[in-house]
Amino acid sequence: MRPPRPIALLAELTHRCPLSCPYCSNPLELTRAEQELDTDTWARVFSEAADLGVLQLHLSGGEPAARRDLTELVAAARNAGLYTNLITSGIGLTQKRLIELDAAGLDHIQLSLQGTTPELADDIGGYAGGFKRKMEVAAWIGEIGFPLTLNVVLHRRNLHQIPHALEIAQELGARRIEIATVQFHGWALANRDALMPTKAQAQEAIKIVTKARHALKGKLVIDFVPADYHDQLPKRCMGGWGTTGLNIAPDGQVLPCHAAQTIPHLTFDTVRDKPLSEIWFEGAAFNAYRGDHWMNDTCKSCDRKEIDFGGCRCQAMARTGDPNATDPVCAKSAHHNAVKEQAQAHAAMGEDVPLNYRQAPGKADQAAE
Ligand code: FES
Repeated sequence: MRPPRPIALLAELTHRCPLSCPYCSNPLELTRAEQELDTDTWARVFSEAADLGVLQLHLSGGEPAARRDLTELVAAARNAGLYTNLITSGIGLTQKRLIELDAAGLDHIQLSLQGTTPELADDIGGYAGGFKRKMEVAAWIGEIGFPLTLNVVLHRRNLHQIPHALEIAQELGARRIEIATVQFHGWALANRDALMPTKAQAQEAIKIVTKARHALKGKLVIDFVPADYHDQLPKRCMGGWGTTGLNIAPDGQVLPCHAAQTIPHLTFDTVRDKPLSEIWFEGAAFNAYRGDHWMNDTCKSCDRKEIDFGGCRCQAMARTGDPNATDPVCAKSAHHNAVKEQAQAHAAMGEDVPLNYRQAPGKADQAAE
């Protein structure tokens, strides 16, 4: 059966970023500026994506504002008929640049918060003055009238800030807030001792969000990604592998999810060599975990297999060494208890564990740009 067409494309325009968040979803091996796709190639890819059926384009990074051609890229995406969402830390955006992006047709902005106070936000992001700058950018976004979503990645150090994050979202006039507990891939995996939430925090977060969703109904949409390590059921990662969305890395490799490069047996096609539709429908990486042909007996015989599709392949890889294994968050996984105990041990490490900040190769070169 032919796979469904994708709805969303996440374009990682660059891995360059002024922040150094220790939970960054970018791979440990970051792409250097000179390996990035150029403006014309991205424009061609946006057009191919629209032809393939993609409706929403998320312009991400790294920090997408680090691309000098961001306005041209937005215009190209708009020309292709795509709905454009800029996912940004705000650093690198000026009022003038935002006005240009508006004129180029940018539809929506998603602004990340590393914390709700300057002290914590700047510490987590590894960027002094970042929170203050972000609030200035948020005010310009409001003045121009962009629809705004706030995005807060939560972990042991800032989970207590959910109520304040909800207040800030309302003050800034955001229509939506995405409260996402950190997913342990890449840099976050290397920071489990510092970032793993406690079970009590995870449970409290669910209570707060449930109450807030009720109280703020019709005013603020709350998207919530809970801390699944303390759970019994795995998440439906990416809405199902190769079914709804795709990522393109800065160098043009096309990925079924942001962490797919951690699965060693997969090989990835690049938009430099092949059309996007061929990669989506026929690419080996996209077909590796579609359907249930790859599943072990535990997943294949499970009545939830059409709901969670066996959970997250990258999490199975990270925690069991086998990307075909049942996601160890699932209570049916043979690794479930061990992974849960490890999570509790990471969560009990206390507040003084130093953060292992994301290191960007060539950061000095970037600063000079
Ligand atoms: Fe890759 Fe979940 S992050 S499948």
